[in-house]
Parts: sequence; structure tokens; C-alpha cells
Amino acid sequence: MERTKTGIPGLDELVNGGIPKGSNVLLSGGAGTGKTIFATQYLYNGALQFGEPGVFVTLEGNVRDIAWNMESFQWDIKSLQDQGMFTIYKLGMEFMKDSAMVEDRIDEQLKEIEKEVEEINAKRLVIDSTTVFGAYLEPSLLRTTLFKFCDKLKTFGCTTLLTAETPISKTSFSAFGVEEFVVDGVIALYFSPPNRSMFLRKMRGTPHDSNPHPLAITNQGIVINPRDSIMWDAIK
Ligand SMILES: Nc1ncnc2c1ncn2[C@@H]1O[C@H](COP(=O)(O)OP(=O)(O)OP(=O)(O)O)[C@@H](O)[C@H]1O
Ligand SMILES: [Mg+2]
Repeated sequence: MERTKTGIPGLDELVNGGIPKGSNVLLSGGAGTGKTIFATQYLYNGALQFGEPGVFVTLEGNVRDIAWNMESFQWDIKSLQDQGMFTIYKLGMEFMKDSAMVEDRIDEQLKEIEKEVEEINAKRLVIDSTTVFGAYLEPSLLRTTLFKFCDKLKTFGCTTLLTAETPISKTSFSAFGVEEFVVDGVIALYFSPPNRSMFLRKMRGTPHDSNPHPLAITNQGIVINPRDSIMWDAIK
């Protein structure tokens, strides 16, 4: 099986060497658990270590903030952008108050994302974050829309990370309880001050580790310790 290595220290060995290529993987966690850093690091490593171009689609932040965040880790994204290895795309949902229009708008945006992917022949894609859809869609429409959205993403030929904000809970992986069923994998991030941790809730098509492990955000980005595990009860 072909796999996509995240290059995030400690992670790939927990999934038998990497995420099955072409998967949609949900990166879930509460506020400030490191979802955006993880996702950008995945793309940065992909470009730099594995020669795979990546597209970062932001639904909430502005493009400048994403770049600024990455530069705080000394990740030189400017030259990656210049080499056509990395793009940040802002997906605009702001004016979508009318539910009836949202589906059309999402279809349009999917076409834009596909264009971005094709333009640099991207192999990695990030959608940050899916929780924003909930602000525009009724629960029943949200479910079918997310299904369609994830389905369509799969046709782009990328290994995709989608982030989702969770309420403070160990057993919920998205705000609306939809995304975790639609995707192939779930990586959950936790922050119970002062301790950060992560665990693999699911990963279709591969054996994987199932213990929570310590995670640190260092000046080099996220580092996971695959040898130590954390007591489930220590996660709040
Ligand atoms: N350069 C850095 N060095 C160390 N830690 C950092 C650095 N930059 C950010 N952090 C830590 O990472 C946290 C934010 O991570 P990130 O933005 O990835 O979280 P998130 O899960 O995407 O949050 P949100 O829910 O707000 O989108 C900060 O709150 C801070 O604790
Ligand atoms: Mg974020």
C-alpha cells in the first residue's frame, strides 16, 4: 500500500509508516490544541522532505496569518510558494447567509480548490476548518453537504487533512458529530494544561496504534513521543 508520510516526528510509526495514500483524515481538537500547526507542518514537510506540493485551504484565518504562523517556526514558505510547492487559498463563505445558496457556493468553491490542486499538481491538501460549515447549514443539510464535500475531495488525488473543532470532550471528534463518520481517519489532539497529547481514533486500511501519546509544540513544530503513553484518565 502506498502511504503518505506526515514527517511529523513520532507520528508515522504510529500508523505503520504513514497515512494510506488518498485518505481523508480528520484532525480534531479543542481551541489551541495545535490543529493548524499540525496541518501546516504536514504540508511543509511534504514539500521539503518528500517533494510533494500541497494546498492549504483556510475557511477562517486570513492568508497572511497562516504564513505568519508558519514563519514563527522558521519554516521558509516563501521560497516553497515561489517554487510552486505550496499555496494558501482562502475559501470565502462570508456572504452565505442564505442556506439555499450555500450548496451552490460550496460546489463553486470545490471547483476552485480543484483548480488550485491541479495548478501545482498537489499531492497534499488541508481544509482548515470544517467547523465553519456549521455556521451556514442546518444539521440535516450539513450532513449531506459534508458527505458530498469529502467525496469530491477524494477525487483530487491528494491525501487530505481536514480540521474540526471539538467541544471539550474526549469522545467527541467534531462540533456536529458528522465529520468523524465521513472520513477515513481521525487524529485527535488534546490539551489538558499543562499537558498536550494525541491519539489515533481510527485509520481505515491500516493497523495503527491506539494509545494516547504525549505531544509537544516546540520551536520546530509538533513533536510526538510514540514510546510514552498517557493514561486515558489524565486527559480531560
Ligand atoms: N512558535 C510557537 N512555539 C511554541 N508553541 C506555539 C508556537 N506558536 C503557537 N504555539 C502554541 O500553539 C497553540 C496554537 O496552535 P494552533 O493554532 O495550531 O491551534 P488550533 O488547534 O488550530 O487552534 P484554533 O482552534 O484556535 O484554530 C498556541 O495557543 C500556542 O500554545
Ligand atoms: Mg486553527
